[in-house]
Amino acid sequence: MNQTKRKIVVTSALPYANGNIHLGHLVEYLQTDFWVRFQKMRGHACVYVCADDTHGTPIMVRARKEGIAPEELIARSHEAHLRDFTDFEIAFDNYYSTNSPENKAFSEKFYEAMVKSGGITRKSAPQLYCDHCKMFLPDSFVKGVCPKCGAPNQYGDNCDHCGSTYSAAELGSPACTTCGGSPSIKEDEHLYFELEPQHDYLAKWIPEHTTSDVSNKLMEWFSEPLRGWCISRSSPYFGFRIPGTDDKFFYVWVDAPIGYLASLQNWCTAHGESFDDWWQNPAAERYHFIGKDIIRFHCLFWPGMLHVAGFAQPDKIFVHGFLTVNGKKMSKSKGTFVNARTYLKHLPAAALRYYFAAKLSGTTDDMDLNLTDFVHRVNSDLVGKITNLASRGAQMLQKHFEGRMGEMDAEGEAVWKRAVSVADRIAEEYEARDFSKVIVDVRELVDAANEYFDKMSPWSLVKTDPEATRKVLTSILAVFRVLAIYLAPILPAYAQKVATLFGEPAFTWDALQKRIDGGVIGKYEYLATRIDPKAVEALIAESVVPETPAAKPAAPAAEPVKEEIGIDAFSKVDLRVAKILEAAPVEGSDKLIRFLLDVGEAKPRTVFSGIRKAYPEPEKLVGRSVVMVANLAPRKMRFGVSEGMVLAAGNRDGGLFLLSPDSGAMPGSVVS
Ligand code: MSP
Ligand code: ZN
Repeated sequence: MNQTKRKIVVTSALPYANGNIHLGHLVEYLQTDFWVRFQKMRGHACVYVCADDTHGTPIMVRARKEGIAPEELIARSHEAHLRDFTDFEIAFDNYYSTNSPENKAFSEKFYEAMVKSGGITRKSAPQLYCDHCKMFLPDSFVKGVCPKCGAPNQYGDNCDHCGSTYSAAELGSPACTTCGGSPSIKEDEHLYFELEPQHDYLAKWIPEHTTSDVSNKLMEWFSEPLRGWCISRSSPYFGFRIPGTDDKFFYVWVDAPIGYLASLQNWCTAHGESFDDWWQNPAAERYHFIGKDIIRFHCLFWPGMLHVAGFAQPDKIFVHGFLTVNGKKMSKSKGTFVNARTYLKHLPAAALRYYFAAKLSGTTDDMDLNLTDFVHRVNSDLVGKITNLASRGAQMLQKHFEGRMGEMDAEGEAVWKRAVSVADRIAEEYEARDFSKVIVDVRELVDAANEYFDKMSPWSLVKTDPEATRKVLTSILAVFRVLAIYLAPILPAYAQKVATLFGEPAFTWDALQKRIDGGVIGKYEYLATRIDPKAVEALIAESVVPETPAAKPAAPAAEPVKEEIGIDAFSKVDLRVAKILEAAPVEGSDKLIRFLLDVGEAKPRTVFSGIRKAYPEPEKLVGRSVVMVANLAPRKMRFGVSEGMVLAAGNRDGGLFLLSPDSGAMPGSVVS
């Protein structure tokens, strides 16, 4: 190999210890695995580290519910996660835990440096506390009435209905989602990591280490001073205690990314390697693979932490999109929220690896698993075209020539040469994480090989010219072997069987250059079988989780009844009939619709409303009359100013219905 040997550290985000691995997760772990295996095949020194993300309130609460210690819960998850990953052929060099001595030591070291830099401040703020559960409630553990629009059943940080954000202490009639009780408000002091001192540093760092779509989004925050990040959580909490405090713990998102370093350290110790040689070495490279939901933590807080603590930064953060199934968000009730383990009960891992590779192109776009397309691509391409070359070629060679190959004929050699000639291009596609292009290239080559195969029709040629037939089979097997090398990072077990068929050790990229003329093949073992569409149906059927009330987080027993008011309080609300002039989805939000409303005034009003889920085609609402609150103070939202509110009824099951007057009501009429 003429290029120099690289030293590369690669990570995938650390999955939470309180959940199962599902197909959405696999979008990430599989693409990282493809990339790492490719680097290793190229002869580079590459270490793939990961761990379970074990700390935080959800894990503590779940352990309590099961009546076990959190350590027991995380040990169980660790085993289950690793088993899932292994069965999907995902090969970590180290799969560790954030609840480790290395991670505790690193976290304390980071904190010490943060304090020294002057970046830690203390602020007191009102927080919701559940007396029954004896804990402060994180945003995802409290529901109540939106302080802005009055919608019930909203989580502690933002409203699904009107899109506004607020702090949990502002919620009306808040309820603990664990016990249903009403929490009280307690002042609580917290530690913050101030990012503003690194404003200029981060404004420069981010665009250099992420793609432009990712950095543009983050840059929106840089027009103002950066806000401090709350890094502490109060007892009880499952995590590491913050040195110098008796009841404060590091927020899980502090020690989670540090967990990358801890896992690397743990691997180094076990392999007699030096941590600094990998992480602090300017000649080494470091990459994080993450999903788009956790950009803020990896591209803002994490580089800020590494910077003050004097650690090297990652060279790039590779961000991917989310998995959809048949074009829609994964859904438990539809059975498209599929656990890794359930998948493996019905289908082979290699099929998903092949299909995901065919769909992944290294961008932040969401990726769709279309189940019909999945069956089709695996059966027609992987099995019908690629694997068929080997099964037909190898079995004939065994039958008629005791597995002995000869030379290639001129035409076959040309097909083989063409296959080998695209090696550099395919390597570039792997390097750029554009796995879909690799699959396109492989399919083009396999089509050429099949064309040659059919034209030579060795099954009839063998009756008249055995030696010519041997040449055809040799050529076909040589081409197939090249394709198997190209696919090895995506289909490692498959490629290993092919290597064994040719009596070779595990394929390296250099093996592409080798000729196999005159060699002998071993016994042909089946490589891949067709997927039965019925197995896919069974998988989806098994994955359906019926929406029983018990499966949902415990909601307050009834809609909270609001405080009684007099007629004069009610008459302060200026309700009017409004006619919808325009209605359009809001770019960048999947909840909001932007309305232009005629309220009988000189100028129409702009109003944002979080009802898109119920009205996915807002254009259809144009012309309809609705009821609006006309004297609601204008609210500045991320997408513009909302000058009022449109009324909608919200069912307990989440259904939303616009209120409309009977026909005849005019824009601007007063509703009372
Ligand atoms: N524990 C944090 C990560 C800490 S990293 C220091 C976390 N865990 S997670 O289990 O929710 O997600 C792990 C990874 O899987 C994330 O990168 C996340 O984006 C990715 N995915 C989880 N669900 C996904 C889909 N449905 N689709 C694609 N990727 C998804 O976040
Ligand atoms: Zn509670």
